[in-house]
Amino acid sequence: MTLRHFLRDDDLSPAEQTRLLDLAAELKAEPWSRRPLEGPQSVAMIFDKPTLRTQVSFGAGIAELGGNPMLVEGRLAGIGVRESVEDVARVLARQVSLVVWRTFFQADLDTMAAHAGVPVVNALTDDFHPCQLVADLLTVREHKGDLPGLTVAFVGDAACNMGNSWLLAGTTAGMHVRVAAPPGYQPTGAVLDRAAEIARETGGSATCFHEAEKAVAGADVVVTDTWISMGKESEEASRQAVFGAYALTSELLALAAPDAIAMHCLPAYRGKEIAAEVIDGPQSVVWDEAENRRHAQKAVMTFLLEASR
Ligand code: CP
Repeated sequence: MTLRHFLRDDDLSPAEQTRLLDLAAELKAEPWSRRPLEGPQSVAMIFDKPTLRTQVSFGAGIAELGGNPMLVEGRLAGIGVRESVEDVARVLARQVSLVVWRTFFQADLDTMAAHAGVPVVNALTDDFHPCQLVADLLTVREHKGDLPGLTVAFVGDAACNMGNSWLLAGTTAGMHVRVAAPPGYQPTGAVLDRAAEIARETGGSATCFHEAEKAVAGADVVVTDTWISMGKESEEASRQAVFGAYALTSELLALAAPDAIAMHCLPAYRGKEIAAEVIDGPQSVVWDEAENRRHAQKAVMTFLLEASR
């Protein structure tokens, strides 16, 4: 048996990502067609950071797969505080068929995966948000068709999980990924190098800009995210000043392709990183993105459970 986890976007090969997106579309059309958690088997959902979409979409999705969603209160469990990540992993594996964890450090998630003995899913870390990207790519496919060759522009704080995940997942899909961020908020060299490596295989590309206008010019998809990621609240004032030129306004969106779509993983702050007329306008697909979290994560869990048998 090969135990499979979904810890970062490049855990999926390009072919696996395509299969997973096909499965997500199938599950969206036929929500109760697959029952890999029949029993019901339990899935532990642990959140060390705030969440709305992730907890409800996983909870509903696990139930639709025939399973029992078990919300584990992160503060009560005290993972890494009350007991080690390794011991928590060993205990969880004796109770549940899969672990979904939102936490801070990617290294802790890696440790959980190394000791759990059941599939572990990244429900967001400081570094990556791969489940969001499966939902986002499903949404792009629904609105723009085949992914290879499409251009996506991510504007704002690119030194964060969403910027990193777009670079890895977008290039895996054969897309041209452009990020625009001010100095000091660009992706790390390690992420850019990995995206470039993937792009060489898929025909995509990964490019960094400082000017939002250059990244957005002619793009098929324009993406932004909050400037104040979880854990960065104390930097709010300085971040508002630095990111002002990267707001996704109707003027910036007008530089993209005429039929471009605007995306945001939510929660959104109107008048900050995205203008109200954009998020509430005709090019916005944010509510489809939010819905697609459920379909995407059901596909992720089904894929991991089947691959790990
Ligand atoms: N997009 C997202 O992950 O939403 P939540 O933080 O509400 O789960």
